Amino acid sequence: MLKGKDIITIKDLSKREIFEIFETAKEMIPIAKGKSIDLLKGKILATLFFEPSTRTRFSFETAMHRLGGEVISFADPKTTSISKGETLADTIRIVDSYSDVIVIRHSYEGAAKLASKFADHPVINAGDGAGQHPTQTLLDLFTIWSNLGKIENLNVGLLGDLKYGRTVHSLALALADFGANLYMISPKGLEMPDHINREVGEKIKVKKTEDLLSVIGELDVLYVTRIQKERFPDINEYLKIAGSYRIDLSTLEKAKKDLIILHPLPRIDEISPDVDYTPHAKYFEQAFNGVPVRMAILSMVMGVR
Ligand code: NCD
Repeated sequence: MLKGKDIITIKDLSKREIFEIFETAKEMIPIAKGKSIDLLKGKILATLFFEPSTRTRFSFETAMHRLGGEVISFADPKTTSISKGETLADTIRIVDSYSDVIVIRHSYEGAAKLASKFADHPVINAGDGAGQHPTQTLLDLFTIWSNLGKIENLNVGLLGDLKYGRTVHSLALALADFGANLYMISPKGLEMPDHINREVGEKIKVKKTEDLLSVIGELDVLYVTRIQKERFPDINEYLKIAGSYRIDLSTLEKAKKDLIILHPLPRIDEISPDVDYTPHAKYFEQAFNGVPVRMAILSMVMGVR
């Protein structure tokens, strides 16, 4: 059903398609752990990362390799013809003619959408500025679903930079569709953008607060994000807010026993390393899940699943 489809925002996928991705991802776990297969033999993935990445890029590339496919990529966008003044549109046209699927990360909101207009093959948005990051949302939802068995009616807290954080933009939209109860917990000035609030608010009840401790005991999932330093127009505004929240063992004293803590990573100082050794910490499992979930996505958009 996903064959040939672009994934630009999480809204490009129905709930049914998301569950199909989960089922396929579950089957992919042993392959992600090393039992490589030939499902995508002869296929080529192009990864175009114009912004830094560790997990997203490596997990897409690992997914492709483990499924027997090949990857073309650049180490640094400065080494491509973009630095000679080539337009993104032309770069995409060319790369599209060399590959079967394109994964793109760019600092401009709307870059992936634009790329999809110039490519015949599927384009997957791996983050466009402060816009969306739909495949991160799929692995976030998969991690919640595989740990807690459901998404509906869970109390999910989104903590941190809800203004510039693209992961929470996509995730909030998806959680609203799945009928979770949302807690938006952010420092003043970093609240969720109005257009997302509006869309989410039409579907579910949302509680907004600056104070994590006042709601920690109610949460089933706490999704922590870093402050997106690189997106602040004025560094002084960042410095005013930097370090304004941090999860440590004392923050978790009133937490439910089964609370799971997620983070798209990288973390800076939002989660104390002590928390890593508690059963709440699921962020490393979440990062691993990037591989089976992206295996599912790649094989489904290329029509072999
Ligand atoms: C996120 C991103 O790039 O938006 N990282 C990721 O893909 N795992 C989150 C972030 O950079 O804070």
